[in-house]
Amino acid sequence: MSSLLPTSTGPLQGTLRVPGDKSISHRAALFGLIAGAPCRATNWLDAADTRCSLAAVRDLGCAAEFGDSTLQVAPGPWPKALAGGGKPRTLDCGNSGTTARLLLGLLAARLPQGGPGVLLTGDVSLRGRPMGRVIDPLRAMGADIQHMATEGRLPVLLRGADLQGIVHRMKVPSAQAKSALLLAGLQASGRTEVHGGGSSRDHTERLLRTMGVELEDLPQGGVAVTGGQNVGGFDIAVPGDPSSAAFFWTAAAMLPGSSVTVTGCGLNEGRVGALRVLRRAGVQVTIDRARGPREGEMLGDVTVAYGTPQPFTIDAVEMPTLVDEIPVLAVLATSLPGQSVITGAAELRLKESDRLALVAANLQRLGAQVEEQAEGLVISGPVRLKGGTKSAPLVLETGGDHRLAMALAIAALGAEGRCALDAPGCVDVSYPDFFTALDGLLAGD
Ligand code: S3P
Repeated sequence: MSSLLPTSTGPLQGTLRVPGDKSISHRAALFGLIAGAPCRATNWLDAADTRCSLAAVRDLGCAAEFGDSTLQVAPGPWPKALAGGGKPRTLDCGNSGTTARLLLGLLAARLPQGGPGVLLTGDVSLRGRPMGRVIDPLRAMGADIQHMATEGRLPVLLRGADLQGIVHRMKVPSAQAKSALLLAGLQASGRTEVHGGGSSRDHTERLLRTMGVELEDLPQGGVAVTGGQNVGGFDIAVPGDPSSAAFFWTAAAMLPGSSVTVTGCGLNEGRVGALRVLRRAGVQVTIDRARGPREGEMLGDVTVAYGTPQPFTIDAVEMPTLVDEIPVLAVLATSLPGQSVITGAAELRLKESDRLALVAANLQRLGAQVEEQAEGLVISGPVRLKGGTKSAPLVLETGGDHRLAMALAIAALGAEGRCALDAPGCVDVSYPDFFTALDGLLAGD
């Protein structure tokens, strides 16, 4: 069912907290599977995506409890069914690429050998996303992974095997692939080196170090791990998710007179590219780092205020630090005078939807000047976006993609006329209370 999106005639003013970081929350659940001691994470994100990781951890025999925003995982024995005969256990990763890719690396050496293994699958979107970037190097380490339908795609059958360390160079910088190989390498014999991570997020490295694991930093974002180390537990507070905050920061950057502060927000260097782009776009960004660092992650309060708009460019080198923020930055570009250029963004076509195609199509329907290129977008502004009427709103297409839904809600905010979303419920994947938070800001709460 489509739903009408709010609009704003005035500035956006306010202070808010955003939910816990999705990437860190996935890791806080999944790493319980290799921990040798209890694990605890406060401010854990309870959303559809992270619930997939939690369900997998429980299915694999860990006692995991969630309540009062706190996740606790107690390491436990593997279920007998995983070691004996019978059918493979199915783990449904839903829409979550992080669950699927990290589990592949984590389980490849961990599952009992000779058992039926596990069948990893996901929803239609996830079954269409590339897994070869994880499966191929894992196989080179000795992993036993069989495709059930299409080479390089879920579903796959994974069985336990002895792994050997390798030296691997990723073709595309991916934190998910890097994490999968580090988790496999930690349980392999010898040393595993992962190169080509560039400026990708390092939440896995930080949490593993908190758990007592030694990792070696290599030049240009490379990292190495030696197998067979003792792994402890952790007690962390998950910072607010900068990818969720980015929607409100961008709204403040687009509506004259606005100022929005997000408190307790994660500021991992691999995640804050959008703030750099906002500064380049003439937006006022103030970061108060007094709250961090804490438990291995940077955090602080970030205030974004409307400034002197100007166009921006983004290239491949910067892409990993803002890969999830491209849809909303493209929306911002429609309000900036001149031509904004996004290049090196081919990965966007392989996310929860083809984000380059969907962003371009929706913004064009709103009247923006957007040229879709093979690996990017060229957006000329400023253009006042235009929706429909209250009784016949322009229905925007999310492709069931949470980040598209929230970016399009920000586009609708400043548009003339009214817009609706075809599938507003998909925000549950990462930010179930997104519309409530937006309404709160609009009401000046
Ligand atoms: C993630 C890494 C990114 C990002 C995704 C979450 C992670 O993917 O797009 O939403 O938690 O490691 P890649 O690094 O694979 O591009």
